[in-house]
Amino acid sequence: MASGTESWILMATGRTPTNIAVIKYWGKRDEALILPVNDSISVTLDPDHLSATTTVAVSPTFDRDRMWLNGKEIPLSGDRFQSCLREIRKLADDVEDEKKGIRIRKDDWQKLHVHIASYNNFPTAAGLASSAAGLACFVFTLAKLMNVKEDCGKLSSIARQGSGSACRSMYGGFVKWTMGKDACGSDSIAVQLASESHWNDLVIIIAVVSSKQKETSSTTGMRDSVETSPLLQHRAQTVVPGRILQMEEAIRNRDFASFARLTCADSNQFHAVCLDTSPPIFYMNDTSHRIISLVERWNRSEGTPQAAYTFDAGPNAVLIAPNRKSAGLLLQRLLFCFPPPADNELTSYVIGDKSILHEAGLQSMKDVEALPPPPVSKDKYPSQKFPGKVSYFICTRLGSGPRVLTDESLALLSPTTGLPK
Ligand code: ADE
Repeated sequence: MASGTESWILMATGRTPTNIAVIKYWGKRDEALILPVNDSISVTLDPDHLSATTTVAVSPTFDRDRMWLNGKEIPLSGDRFQSCLREIRKLADDVEDEKKGIRIRKDDWQKLHVHIASYNNFPTAAGLASSAAGLACFVFTLAKLMNVKEDCGKLSSIARQGSGSACRSMYGGFVKWTMGKDACGSDSIAVQLASESHWNDLVIIIAVVSSKQKETSSTTGMRDSVETSPLLQHRAQTVVPGRILQMEEAIRNRDFASFARLTCADSNQFHAVCLDTSPPIFYMNDTSHRIISLVERWNRSEGTPQAAYTFDAGPNAVLIAPNRKSAGLLLQRLLFCFPPPADNELTSYVIGDKSILHEAGLQSMKDVEALPPPPVSKDKYPSQKFPGKVSYFICTRLGSGPRVLTDESLALLSPTTGLPK
């Protein structure tokens, strides 16, 4: 290991978005390699609102690999971090930084230790796919530091071994994770279907639903579903292959009605598989069900989809509107049913892209209180109010894939100590 001095530190910082599946991944055919039983499709969310930022530092003075998540040291000993580190180290290449007089040879990476600090710009415990963004960022940033030459497809197959859905965070826009056939997983990779600019009218509103219940982890839930749900087998073999083709066509043609119908149907089938599991798994709660009814009633009353909903392994709703106008109307309906607690500021209850609040004509709590109930539908179902059932809303849009942050002030580790700033 050649270097000017033996106390140098070299760092890289990356930022990687989270993603939400519109055709769901549920069930592994190989637990260790994280190989799925079906293809899935996701949309990447705007990293300004939902992303992980990770700094990786290497120095000959580091005596072991260490990691900090949101400022707290966490163990790196888990299989998932370890497989990603091992795979990236195998692909590491020579690195030369002439200015700093640092030269690292390919083989040195096996002996050098790294410090990793990661930060999520959204609450990690809120059930918003933080591990997808986190593991993708872990792999992406290590790959940059270690001068890995492989493309995003290869990196996605490594991220997949950290957290299945992390592979889809390797691209922006619309992404497909192809399940692949190979037993060692080489063809189970993410591919970009279209960039975020292909369909940039879409608006996404996430309802972070209050929940006291401890959820079954996705890993355990999936394993139970694979072992016990006959519906999962039917879904993976018969339903999803057709839906993938239809979803690809809907995205290609920016056909919102088809996109919304497929998104809602697939979310509902995923939760039906959870119910079909023994013992049954309940990820959604009453608030989730009320949000589904709100969207379904609106869509039915208009005769064509105005919004789509999708729910992952938790009660949070991800709602997709075709444009800003529909998103404004959707937000009005959501805030009528789920108003903020009385002492809450509207601007801390609706975060992210605040311009959707303006689109909805909502500037203050007074405007929310003055919202009229949505027109009574044919089924005469009255619109009730449920304050406190939603913690907050995040308004966002489709976003771009991983990128390197060159601004050194954004690094999470000190360039002199290699410890969190
Ligand atoms: N799990 C949740 N967030 C993460 C992050 N940013 N990095 C690694 N693992 C995570």
